[in-house]
Amino acid sequence: MTMIVGIIGFPLKHTISPVFQQAAFDHLHLDIRYEAWETEPQDLGKIVEQLRGNRYLGMNVTVPFKEVVMPLLDKIDDLARRIGAVNTVANRAGLLVGFNTDAAGFLRALRAVAGFEPGHTVAVILGSGGAARAVAFALADAGARRIYIVNRTLKRAEALVADLALNGVSGATVFARPWTDAGSIRDIIEECDLIVNTTSVGMKHGPAELRSPLEAGDIPSRALVYDIVYNPGVTPLLVEATKAGARTLGGLPMLVYQGAAALELWTGKEAPVGLMLAKAQEALARG
Ligand code: ATR
Repeated sequence: MTMIVGIIGFPLKHTISPVFQQAAFDHLHLDIRYEAWETEPQDLGKIVEQLRGNRYLGMNVTVPFKEVVMPLLDKIDDLARRIGAVNTVANRAGLLVGFNTDAAGFLRALRAVAGFEPGHTVAVILGSGGAARAVAFALADAGARRIYIVNRTLKRAEALVADLALNGVSGATVFARPWTDAGSIRDIIEECDLIVNTTSVGMKHGPAELRSPLEAGDIPSRALVYDIVYNPGVTPLLVEATKAGARTLGGLPMLVYQGAAALELWTGKEAPVGLMLAKAQEALARG
């Protein structure tokens, strides 16, 4: 029997997960089909129920369902509960278990591709949505010394800081800062080792496509600038960072590594990450 895995989101037109996940299943000779389930929010419950069937191994979850899917599941893994978002669901004999592999994907890319060890560093996270939550918990758990959460809507940044404080951040000190313009965050940007963009600014097909959240003049050359936006491969922020002489990391390795971790939860097999990365790059280049 062909087993089924899917990705649920809305809209889903631009997802490249089916390409690199299917390539990985085929490479491992697994009889699994990866499907894209573009789902209107009112149909979420129906899809989740279907997932309990014995042909379904699980699913990836993307915008706008990472938080609202949680109460529909039977069990939530500890890290996903702390982050407050699920991006992977595994069907364990009819019981649906929620995980968050974004945090692990973020860290693995940071270490393996950029060679950056976040322990004892100072980080600035731009944004306070679901992606920012995964990044903030990942950095806190990895031993970052200080984390600034910067957001256009200060309340959301403050809520994330409160959650980090409540759910254990080991040695990190965390601060929320409003983001009105570059001047409002210049002091913290100047002292940081790592800048992570988790906002949709610069994202292809997004409302602020072609815009950069920071200009070259705002970016210190000693920082690593990590844009988790993966389309385009080189975002406007990364162009500015390069102009500033800073090192850069794009979002594609994180996307692939979170997918690799999900595949391992569904199949118990080691994911062929090199192949998945190559297929993701090809898919992105095709547009
Ligand atoms: P995700 O789950 O992918 O993180 P999200 O929850 O919609 O998505 O969060 C998007 C983030 O990008 C938010 O921090 C948002 O800021 P607000 O909380 O103020 O809405 C940020 N964002 C989106 N567009 C932005 C823009 N034009 N300028 C600054 N921040 C922006």
